[in-house]
Amino acid sequence: MSEFSPRVFSGVQPTGNLHLGNYLGAIRKFVALQESHNCVYCVVDLHAMTAQLVHEDLEEQIRSITAAFLAAGIDPKAHIVFNQSRVPQHAELAWIFNCVARIGWMNRMTQFKDKAGKDRENASLGLLAYPSLMAADILLYRATHVPVGDDQKQHLELTRDIAQKFNSDFSERIEKLGLGVEMMVGEERVNGYFPLTEPLIEGPAPRVMSLRDGTKKMSKSDVSDLSRINLTDDADTISKKIRKAKTDPEPLPSDLEGLVDRPEADNLVGIYAALSDRSKADVIAEFGGRQFSAFKPALSELAVSVLSPISTQMRSLLDDPAYIDGVLADGGERAGEIAEKTMKDVKAIIGLLA
Ligand code: AMP
Ligand code: TRP
Repeated sequence: MSEFSPRVFSGVQPTGNLHLGNYLGAIRKFVALQESHNCVYCVVDLHAMTAQLVHEDLEEQIRSITAAFLAAGIDPKAHIVFNQSRVPQHAELAWIFNCVARIGWMNRMTQFKDKAGKDRENASLGLLAYPSLMAADILLYRATHVPVGDDQKQHLELTRDIAQKFNSDFSERIEKLGLGVEMMVGEERVNGYFPLTEPLIEGPAPRVMSLRDGTKKMSKSDVSDLSRINLTDDADTISKKIRKAKTDPEPLPSDLEGLVDRPEADNLVGIYAALSDRSKADVIAEFGGRQFSAFKPALSELAVSVLSPISTQMRSLLDDPAYIDGVLADGGERAGEIAEKTMKDVKAIIGLLA
């Protein structure tokens, strides 16, 4: 039985500064996966237009996310780094997925509900169709694994729904054209063109919370800059933000159970664990019983030691935009080869003369 060859795909939007949540939930995992997988990492500039159409500094934002990928340790020669709009097949496959997916599926997405707010009628059509473009990003490369933060879980379930509906609606033609790959769906053996992609969400910090409120996600759009650590913050700023991070008055607990109902403590322990590639249990074993006044300086030191080299490297990469543009052009070309092959297959499967 042939199988899908493992491939990793993920994307980050060029909207605003990257923060510790993006780094721990996504980029740090991107770096680690390079050891074991072929990886495609994309700056999803077409997604950036869904919530807000006009961005004064979109070019810089695209370069800045690319610089963050490279500075964090992504190797653009061994893998593929590019910006989405360079490969037109993303938009082309997204159109086809717009016809596969149902409006009801889109209306159920919590990210759509959050971003559209109260006035849904006035949200862009692109914001509603956002997950369909995201499914196209992933399935254009027939990617088997997608590292993301916990907030993207629902979008990945929808990606599987789209793949499954396409595979089943076109099963006869896929079979006839010999384009299918056998796979198990539950107990059933089926022949499909698109894999049912697995999210990679696990780890000690799948959802990094705000430093000001442990029940809210750390986010680019939070009005308080103290709520997040930006990848570009200097050492003093990082230390200040951790010193001011909200905590409760108790010392750290001596076991994991003790973190339940203590969202701020849980968040800081998770951040420490993720930054040091350890488990939360391990961190608790070391710091259990200690006061935050002892834990916070250790966390600051660790955060600075991990993030400072990245921001230094990012700044020096951004001094040479031509180099970054070259990386994106080269990645776009290699991504385009894979994308072209997929679209050719998809058109044959659907019956579009090409
Ligand atoms: P975005 O900036 O929305 O494109 O997000 C880029 C990546 O960072 C996605 O994989 C998100 O799931 C992840 N991410 C964003 N915020 C957080 C957070 N607070 N904790 C963990 N992962 C996050
Ligand atoms: N929706 C993702 C986010 O907001 C970004 C994204 C777009 C993405 N396409 C993707 C993530 C494909 C993973 C795979 O974070």
